[in-house]
Amino acid sequence: MDTILVLDFGGQYCHLIARRIRDLGVYSEILPYNVSLEKIKAINPKGIILSGGPNSVYEKGSPQLTADFYQYVSDENVPVLGICYGHHLIAHQLNGKIESHDQKEYGQSDLNTLDDTGLLEGFNKIETVWMSHGDQIKELPEGFNVLASTTTCPIASFANYQKNLFGVQFHPEVGHTPKGKIVLENFVKKYAKAKKEWKLDDWIGQTIEEIRKRVGPDKRVILGLSGGVDSSVTAALMHRAIGDRLHSIFVNNGLLRKNEVVEVQETFRDHLKFKSFHYVDAEELFLKKLNDVEDPEEKRRVIGHTFIEVFENKTIELEKEYPNIKFLAQGTIYPDRVESSATSNASAKIKSHHNLTLPENMLLEIIEPLKDLYKDEVRKIGLNLGLPIEIINRHPFPGPGLAVRIIGSVDKEKLRTLRDADEILIEEIRKAGLYESLWQAFCVFLPLKTVGVMGDFRTYENICAIRAVESLDVMTANFAKLDMNLLEKISSRIINEVKGFNRVVYDISNKPPSTIEYE
Ligand code: XMP
Repeated sequence: MDTILVLDFGGQYCHLIARRIRDLGVYSEILPYNVSLEKIKAINPKGIILSGGPNSVYEKGSPQLTADFYQYVSDENVPVLGICYGHHLIAHQLNGKIESHDQKEYGQSDLNTLDDTGLLEGFNKIETVWMSHGDQIKELPEGFNVLASTTTCPIASFANYQKNLFGVQFHPEVGHTPKGKIVLENFVKKYAKAKKEWKLDDWIGQTIEEIRKRVGPDKRVILGLSGGVDSSVTAALMHRAIGDRLHSIFVNNGLLRKNEVVEVQETFRDHLKFKSFHYVDAEELFLKKLNDVEDPEEKRRVIGHTFIEVFENKTIELEKEYPNIKFLAQGTIYPDRVESSATSNASAKIKSHHNLTLPENMLLEIIEPLKDLYKDEVRKIGLNLGLPIEIINRHPFPGPGLAVRIIGSVDKEKLRTLRDADEILIEEIRKAGLYESLWQAFCVFLPLKTVGVMGDFRTYENICAIRAVESLDVMTANFAKLDMNLLEKISSRIINEVKGFNRVVYDISNKPPSTIEYE
């Protein structure tokens, strides 16, 4: 498939570049800037985009491209577009001059378009663009033309049409550059000449074929089903490909939300007719192991290990009946892979079951059919495969479940209290029509007793914190500015209906510096 390769120089918007290209219908993939030339050649990209990044190209040790890279793009005539750091880098490595500038440009700027015939075709004389770097090009290498400038940045975009090299100091991938899409589209269509081959409907058919080929006519696959979007869509897709040779294992760790245990079983067993659906009730085991564990990291560790233990035992049991279980399917999606290679975040680690220590004769090959997809693409595929909208639009739920929403030690009574409150919160958020616009909304159990009064009685109970956030990319999140009347309704319902809470507080912290979850 025609591919636009994005080389990552550590820019915070790198993901968005690939995202925007896919929105144009062209497949795009992100790789680290120092990926081997062999790998690039194997992908055979139609065009390459160099992302932004925090460094200065003239600093010692800053990420650079090799001479071989420039030779390759020149020999193969692969167009290259540098964005911000990438823009500086091309100029720097081809003997131009880059300097730090006194008047640093961060935020929105007016761009004067000097040449609207090539890369910037479709731009007006003045366009709003988003800048985010303190350096700028002072001198271009020979053969390069200036396409645009701002009052403080004379070379805000360049092109060398002979060599198919382009640069923009601004970020075309962010929403703050309203016409940014035009730049990417011009690059992809006019210079890379990439075909629009990225269609989700075709993807489903092709992927099902690939799964069938890989698994063969009689081998079997196991999968840990959590009820979240990614594992559910993986399950639906695998089931479509190999039917009941997919063995889905759903572990009740006792840390799930109210009714979840029933809903997941109904969806997969009754609605989607999974016959090899295996429910494991491990609530008691998890709670026993979590008894008195207070430290958040220790909780995650205990839950992760216990999950592996339960999952392995079930797999070994199934293997006695079906000795041809040879694969483990996982719901890894594209951002998980990019994030885990770059920053190795906790959610990606928890998701990975690569550290299963099954008996040697039972080595399982990993299948990750969603590994190239973004979340919204996964959602579209899920709907297409007949998953209920409630599962598709579900808010993210952490692997360690409600355990990281109960501060300190976890027990059945606290879990019951939290579940009851959470159910009310979600019910009211849905009634207000807000569920889909929020990234997440949930309750947190704060084991902090305060005094209250109910009727003629004094109460002495815990605090329920409500967390509702809006986010586009999970890296940043803002607390939702919920209506006070709605908050009042939620608060009074929780205090009146849930035994164990007599006070409700609303969390008004953003991420960063706070995180979304409490532990
Ligand atoms: P934080 O709290 O880091 O959360 O702002 C970011 C997102 O990740 C989810 N999250 C997890 N997901 N296992 C998961 O599968 C985990 O251990 C985990 N911790 C946090 C969280 O719900 C939010 O959407």
